[in-house]
Amino acid sequence: MELSLRLDKKIAIVTGSAMGIGKAMAQGLASVGATVVIADIAEDIAQKTAAEIISDGGKAAAYKLDVTDSEQYKNFVDSVVERFGRIDILVNNAGLNRRNLCINMPEEDWKTIIDVNLTGVWIGCKTVAPVMIAQGRGKIINTCSIMGYVSLPELTGYSASKGGILQLTKALALELADYNIQVNSVAPAYILTELTQKLKDNKEMYADLIGRTPMKRFGTVEEIAGPVVFLASELSNFMTGHTMPVDGGWLAW
Ligand SMILES: NC(=O)c1ccc[n+]([C@@H]2O[C@H](COP(=O)([O-])OP(=O)(O)OC[C@H]3O[C@@H](n4cnc5c(N)ncnc54)[C@H](O)[C@@H]3O)[C@@H](O)[C@H]2O)c1
Repeated sequence: MELSLRLDKKIAIVTGSAMGIGKAMAQGLASVGATVVIADIAEDIAQKTAAEIISDGGKAAAYKLDVTDSEQYKNFVDSVVERFGRIDILVNNAGLNRRNLCINMPEEDWKTIIDVNLTGVWIGCKTVAPVMIAQGRGKIINTCSIMGYVSLPELTGYSASKGGILQLTKALALELADYNIQVNSVAPAYILTELTQKLKDNKEMYADLIGRTPMKRFGTVEEIAGPVVFLASELSNFMTGHTMPVDGGWLAW
């Protein structure tokens, strides 16, 4: 038996990969041979990230993409298929948060969170799945969060969006099982990125979050990239419909 994590000749789209966790996922996938498509609303930073991966010896291309815009998404997928011929891996990672108590949260903020974090994932799956169905194989990986399982105050929108991803992952896995397409998610606890730097800078908040994490620290972006490479590889071929917590033990209390 010879097991392999290699993704040579595979084409992988990672949304929200200009920076943060998505950038590390793209770097991780490129490090095992995949050609990565950096798809992000922040076009300039996406270009820089792709250039960085190429200068590190990887294969990458950058595209501007707003995951909430289904027409733009369709054109983007058409361009990727025209250029690379196939899409083997889709990582639906773009996401954001607006912390606020439910009673204070403007409805616009609720809609933005659900639109980017949940509807954006659904649009990605809906648009890319037909390409994978025609190929007879594919891997879809969504970025959920431990806040899809549990929650904290000021996260009604965020938790609802991530809980939605957990269920979407199951439902879509059932729909695509016959086509040899596996659909799974990763659910990180707190990982140090732009999104969480403010939380780390707030001493009281940081102490509370670390206190809830058995491993007593925020995770690193590389620690999420590893499980994504596993889920994108043939090592996980019999896994579908699951959300994998990557949480320093948070959910084990
Ligand atoms: N950082 C954490 O602690 C943590 C924990 C659990 C889950 N997550 C999830 O991980 C994912 C990445 O988070 P991060 O911490 O790297 O955040 P980040 O803010 O560092 O990066 C998010 C990326 O998504 C892009 N983006 C935002 N809206 C977009 C849109 N409409 N279309 C395309 N791209 C868009 C941004 O430009 C950015 O490059 C998110 O889904 C987030 O919910 C993060």
